[in-house]
Amino acid sequence: MSNIESILTETRIFEPTEKVKNSVAITEAVLAEMHKKASEDHVGFWSDLAKEKLEWSKPFTVGLDDSKAPHYEWFTDGEINVSYNCIDRHLETKSDKAAIIFEGDLGDVQTYTYKELHDQVCRFANTLTAQGVEKGDRVIIYMPMIPQAVIAMQACARIGAIHSVVFGGFSAEALRDRIENANAKLVITTNGSRRGGKTIPLKGAVDAALEKGCDHVKKVIVYRRTDDEVEMKEGRDIDWMDAEAGMSNYHEPVPVNAEHPLFLLYTSGSTGTPKGVQHSTGGYLLNAHLTNEWMFDLNDNDVFWCTADVGWITGHTYVAYGPLSVGATMLMFEGVPTYPDAGRFWQVCQDHGVTVFYTAPTAIRALMKFGADLPEKYDLSKLRLLGTVGEPINPEAWMWYHEVIGRGECPIIDTWWQTETGAHMIAPFPITPLKPGSCTKPLPGIEAAILDEEGNELGLGEGGLLVIKKPWPSMIRNVWGDEERYKSTYFPLQDVPYYVVGDSAYQDKDGYFWILGRVDDVLNVSGHRLGTMEIESALVSHEKVAEAAIVGRPHDIKGEAVSAFVVLNVDIPNGDERTALVAELREHVAKEIGPIAKPDDIRFGTNLPKTRSGKIMRRLLRTIAKGEEITQDTSTLEDPSILEQFQQQK
Ligand code: WT7
Repeated sequence: MSNIESILTETRIFEPTEKVKNSVAITEAVLAEMHKKASEDHVGFWSDLAKEKLEWSKPFTVGLDDSKAPHYEWFTDGEINVSYNCIDRHLETKSDKAAIIFEGDLGDVQTYTYKELHDQVCRFANTLTAQGVEKGDRVIIYMPMIPQAVIAMQACARIGAIHSVVFGGFSAEALRDRIENANAKLVITTNGSRRGGKTIPLKGAVDAALEKGCDHVKKVIVYRRTDDEVEMKEGRDIDWMDAEAGMSNYHEPVPVNAEHPLFLLYTSGSTGTPKGVQHSTGGYLLNAHLTNEWMFDLNDNDVFWCTADVGWITGHTYVAYGPLSVGATMLMFEGVPTYPDAGRFWQVCQDHGVTVFYTAPTAIRALMKFGADLPEKYDLSKLRLLGTVGEPINPEAWMWYHEVIGRGECPIIDTWWQTETGAHMIAPFPITPLKPGSCTKPLPGIEAAILDEEGNELGLGEGGLLVIKKPWPSMIRNVWGDEERYKSTYFPLQDVPYYVVGDSAYQDKDGYFWILGRVDDVLNVSGHRLGTMEIESALVSHEKVAEAAIVGRPHDIKGEAVSAFVVLNVDIPNGDERTALVAELREHVAKEIGPIAKPDDIRFGTNLPKTRSGKIMRRLLRTIAKGEEITQDTSTLEDPSILEQFQQQK
């Protein structure tokens, strides 16, 4: 395991400064007490926090119900409303406090106080009800990063409708799969979005997705974000403003059972079709609330900016729900980090006095390339905590973030978690001593371990499968409509009911966790999880493609790049024709899934390297993709000459 060796050379430790130690809410003593309590009484620990931190419409008496394991249920007889907890409960003390500060692509700024957010969410909740949406109905939200996306999510939560946000960068095809799988009743979208000084149409993808089938979608609500014309289908499509006209700014939040699904979020797995990760209401909100307090120490003086899109889990837990549940001020940004120039993130931090900033290593690496001059032009002195998520952060990027952006003073909160975990799992508190590249230790109430292939628990210093040994409140409840897939993906071990993460990891001599990467056929491209199978099926759906294999190769900025190996059912073209086909295939993948999944390089061969039993030898393809010499044993290959064909390309 060469990753372990490279990690072992990282020995720096960064202790929190006195200023941090003296200013944050969770001190060492408080943390030690929490760990002690959680290890003595796991369910009691979470239940007490659920009572203390959330407002219940009907208090619960059951902490954990494990009678249907591996389906675990928390606070099962309690009733609660998420929107009430995120908004209404702050109105008495914070009605004029900014809930959302929005900066648009072109620099336009709009602020919503808690009172204004309340009125908007209520109006839209009344609108959804008027359009026939009821508790339990699925609503698809396909929108850019604008406050209306959060308003739509909160309004669904308010009426007990189950939302599924689909990332605006996904194609019509990918959108249709999700609409169908969720059997959605209504879609909320915009005419377009603004990014990098341009307007990009969005509604067309909804029209294309709904073209065939999808009869269950009765209405499409369209918010106008740009001045561009939009085609509206008579009887189906309604303008957001028209639909909202005359709606009351009060809506009584609908209490739902703690286990009622708050949302579905589709994510990639190792097989073809995306999984609808089903989250609960009470348990999800608890961990969303707690981790915003614990990791980001959010208080009344903070302006918190998480750069993630609402289309990902990070945009749910650290944009749409968590920061509001703790009553913080949160910033939303519509644009891209490089427009009008690569100083945009730092300009936004300066102009709005951002104090806690949360982004992905891929963004840090991309901005690092532009040097320290750009961030140094801006006043970043208000920043006090910096977070990262999505993939392991390499020590160079960690140091740059810490020194250039954080003045050497801001702790780097490297948060390990997943769509399925709902919230941070292994991450430092601001007072935790840090090691660049490690997400440090599990949170109180989270019991992580590392297993070998036989399921035996490994000691410090040994790499293996990361598992979570006990259920936690915000864990995935099910794969929507696919119980079997839930069990086989997350609880595949014979003898132990551990949640299997799908990452390999290693614990160093101090018990710190180092994530090594995925163990399944999943790539991590710019912090986005992409299934190799999904991209392969997209390629194979092209008329000229007979077979395809996708592997990842290391990439300086994106983390991993997508390398495709393709067998055509026509002759392999040369020259311009070949260039044209490569472009066509890349566009085809963009159309099927979205631009994020486009292969970075495509190689053609007359076959794929397979064993005599027909298994594709992916490790050989990985070596070729990296441009390295093949040193592995190739004696089991059916036709070794295939390798040369691929090696000659690039
Ligand atoms: C996978 C989950 C969690 C929101 C963003 C991605 C990788 C995530 C880290 C980190 C090392 C990380 C893992 C994980 N990952 N955060 N801090 N250090 N790896 O959510 O799409 O569900 O992907 O991202 O491989 O399993 P996701």
